[in-house]
Amino acid sequence: MPTVLVTGGCGFIGSNFVRHLLATDPGASVVNLDALTYAGNLANLADLTGHPRYTFVKGDITNRDDVRGAMRRGVTDVINFAAESHVDRSIQDSGPFVRTNVIGTQVLLDAAREFKVAKYVQVSTDEVYGSLGATGLFTEETPLHPNSPYSASKAAADLLVMAYQHTFGLHAVVTRCSNNYGPYQFPEKLIPLFVTRLLNDEKVPVYGDGQQVRDWIHVLDHCRGIEAAWRKGASGEVYNFGGKCELTNLALTKTLLAALGKSESLIEYVKDRPGHDRRYAIDCAKAERELGWAPQETFAAGLRDTIAWYQANTAWVGAIKNKEYLAYYEKQYGTH
Ligand code: NAD
Ligand code: DAU
Repeated sequence: MPTVLVTGGCGFIGSNFVRHLLATDPGASVVNLDALTYAGNLANLADLTGHPRYTFVKGDITNRDDVRGAMRRGVTDVINFAAESHVDRSIQDSGPFVRTNVIGTQVLLDAAREFKVAKYVQVSTDEVYGSLGATGLFTEETPLHPNSPYSASKAAADLLVMAYQHTFGLHAVVTRCSNNYGPYQFPEKLIPLFVTRLLNDEKVPVYGDGQQVRDWIHVLDHCRGIEAAWRKGASGEVYNFGGKCELTNLALTKTLLAALGKSESLIEYVKDRPGHDRRYAIDCAKAERELGWAPQETFAAGLRDTIAWYQANTAWVGAIKNKEYLAYYEKQYGTH
């Protein structure tokens, strides 16, 4: 009967994972350790209040006492989602990224050793591989070439995980996934930002020429992949996950406009992101072969449901788009 320490369980992917695991494995318990940063939201798991196999602990993964306190709740396995996750914020200030993503991972790894956990999973990103040209895919053998402070901090964490696996024999796997979409995503990321703005007839800021390519995967497909890597992954291995759905940002924006019946005049081309990676695309053959995993959601159905979720959850969106959020948005894009 595993008791899984999920860090960052109040964020987008972590909250979807916690709900998925508790719903599909009646033997699993979850301890969710989350610092409740701007991206952490208790409302994301409000439906689990009082659940007998779910415990929330407010705490910071960079704080050894917080982590030890959570581990003492009978934790058998660790899955680390906690991170500063937004590239644009890492360009404004990389400090929190190094602190949480690198130091936080080190603290968790030390605790995983101290408490002799069975398995440690590091939730990483395809961004550690850098940027692709017009062709080719990222495989697990692609050399690390992170280009943003965010991806550099994630790559550093991945290397620490592998070093602990090699040096101390910790059972550890690293997962690297492409761009997720789905319910509960903080509206600073492209899809929820654009959907929530378009619903109010507000303009959407497309960076540069909009020809950057991302590979979109539904968050539940990612969650199923993380679960498979935890249960079946071999120690010391990396597993890539992707949605086999490459789209330019402009094509995606036009799809969102069409789905919402809005005019293309709402597109606003803004200054490009500094160091903007041109293309990400994932080869997930290893996960398919070794973990028996494959993406199940189609982009058309997943996007339709996601848009419907944001339309239905205006109170969730409204509570996030507070003064702090609006100040961030203005700093990022100016006033429009
Ligand atoms: P998110 O920003 O929505 O959530 C991050 C969560 O971590 C929040 O709940 C926040 O409160 C918590 N957190 C931050 N710092 C913490 C700290 N010091 N201690 C404890 N908790 C802390 O992020 P997300 O999009 O859900 O991403 C989750 C993980 O998946 C990250 O590691 C990210 O790098 C990775 N990832 C994300 C994507 C994506 O498309 N969103 C794709 C691949 C990998
Ligand atoms: O690839 C996985 C990564 O995907 C994760 O590791 C990150 O945590 C996650 O944030 C995401 O990173 P991106 O930078 O790709 O996501 P974002 O939603 O910020 O941007 C997607 C693309 O859209 C990117 O090319 C930048 C562009 N963009 C983004 C925003 C927010 C715009 O054109 N305008 C915008 O306003």
